[in-house]
Amino acid sequence: MRVITFGTFDVFHVGHVNILERARSFGTELYVGVSSDQLNYSKKGRYPVYSEEDRMRIISALACVDFVFSEESLELKAEYIKHYNADILVMGDDWQGKFDEFKDICDVKYLPRTPSISTTEIIEVVRHKNPTK
Ligand code: CTP
Repeated sequence: MRVITFGTFDVFHVGHVNILERARSFGTELYVGVSSDQLNYSKKGRYPVYSEEDRMRIISALACVDFVFSEESLELKAEYIKHYNADILVMGDDWQGKFDEFKDICDVKYLPRTPSISTTEIIEVVRHKNPTK
């Protein structure tokens, strides 16, 4: 069974490793779509701290990850799922219900987020400790 998931995975943290390990446990292979720098810019109005090459390099190095590709557009999710023959789409529950439309092409599971950590919060903490940056 092939599992697929998507995310930015910027400033890699424990919430990221938790969801990737849990996603992998639903199947035998995990494919990860890492969102491109351009996609993040169009979504959030800023570039990630780590470049897409580095974010993909970090995700590829994980034992629970079998394959990494660049997610170029949010609108292409169904194409990626079909192209990579994924059986299960796993997303964090911050996306609860948002991908139910894909239930006709694969299983869709939402997993609870790890509490009290996010890339945004880490960036805020680091900024606070370095007020000139
Ligand atoms: N995730 C999680 N637990 C967290 C943070 C993220 O399970 N505490 C999951 C998300 O639900 C998503 C994946 O990790 O499925 C990638 O999330 P991403 O948006 O890259 O990480 P965040 O830390 O949420 O980043 P940001 O603060 O920029 O939104």
